[in-house]
Amino acid sequence: MALLEVNNLHTHFFTRNGIIKAVDGISFSIEKGEILGIVGESGAGKSITGFSMLGLIDQPGKIVSGEIIFNGVDLVKKSEKELQKIRGNEIAMIFQDPQTSLNPVISIGDQLMEAILYHNKKASKKDAYNASVDILKLVGLPAAEKRMKSYPHQLSGGMKQRVVIAMALLNNPKLLVADEPTTALDVTIQAQILYLMKKLSKDFDSSLILITHDIAVVSQLCDKIAVMYAGRIVEYGKKEDIIFNPKHPYTKGLIECLPKLNDDKERLYQIPGIMPSLLSLPEGCYFKDRCEFADKECDVYPDQQDIEGRRIFCHKVK
Ligand SMILES: Nc1ncnc2c1ncn2[C@@H]1O[C@H](COP(=O)(O)OP(=O)(O)OP(=O)(O)O)[C@@H](O)[C@H]1O
Ligand SMILES: [Mg+2]
Repeated sequence: MALLEVNNLHTHFFTRNGIIKAVDGISFSIEKGEILGIVGESGAGKSITGFSMLGLIDQPGKIVSGEIIFNGVDLVKKSEKELQKIRGNEIAMIFQDPQTSLNPVISIGDQLMEAILYHNKKASKKDAYNASVDILKLVGLPAAEKRMKSYPHQLSGGMKQRVVIAMALLNNPKLLVADEPTTALDVTIQAQILYLMKKLSKDFDSSLILITHDIAVVSQLCDKIAVMYAGRIVEYGKKEDIIFNPKHPYTKGLIECLPKLNDDKERLYQIPGIMPSLLSLPEGCYFKDRCEFADKECDVYPDQQDIEGRRIFCHKVK
């Protein structure tokens, strides 16, 4: 049984201007210890997918249908109280900006200890202190004991993100959802943090959903990739297949955009046009206006096809 199985999930926002189908019928699954990358442009519905996993969808948004089967139980049917127990415990989330996850007026040590004591009523203060120092060492924070007394503003961006990862890992979650965890960081620090997340996920045998707009990031880290476009998954499969043999024209475009070593072409490729607004989606395939292969057939939204071990939604891939 997969650790997480998402079936035909719909998360919509009921706004004054209309219904925004931020997540519109997506399905994927993650095995224990597996890393899934969710990649796509801004507004594709990646974060809303992540938030849905944790039951963090607020008004005017709502999970309107579908299943999120985690460890055999459907999280969509759980009450807020039950979800609170799961959040930060069995499923944890790391956000783009470490600033939002850390309280600026509480020391790093107190925040970590508080998180341990909240979920672990039997732990003593001393246990919590020792566990906090251990986890800071594990995520590679230099001078862990000293850092326990530091406040977030006294740390660099990369160090803060290490603390956030430590916090997320405290209770040994089975699933970690990381939403653009390195976007706010310098490129060299980015690579370190990504490597750390991969190592920890393997060491802890915990699964990871890595959300990013950067296909280079998913290509380095993930076992599986879901490519999202305008609230839907357009291609989904094993990392090797998606990266080395992309089939959907959108995935091909994303990979074309990657800078290649030894390439003398000066200008990088860009997919023409922009993703349509979720409030005015075209009839048929949502990508058709940007797609060089589109024709009349694409005026109907393509059905799912299973081709060479991946799932794909495109009329032009046979
Ligand atoms: N609270 C909200 N109310 C209305 N619409 C929302 C709300 N939150 C998100 N949306 C809409 O849902 C869609 C998907 O948003 P989401 O944040 O998941 O995109 P994303 O893929 O994470 O983009 P980015 O790469 O910019 O983070 C967007 O069109 C967004 O405007
Ligand atoms: Mg986002």
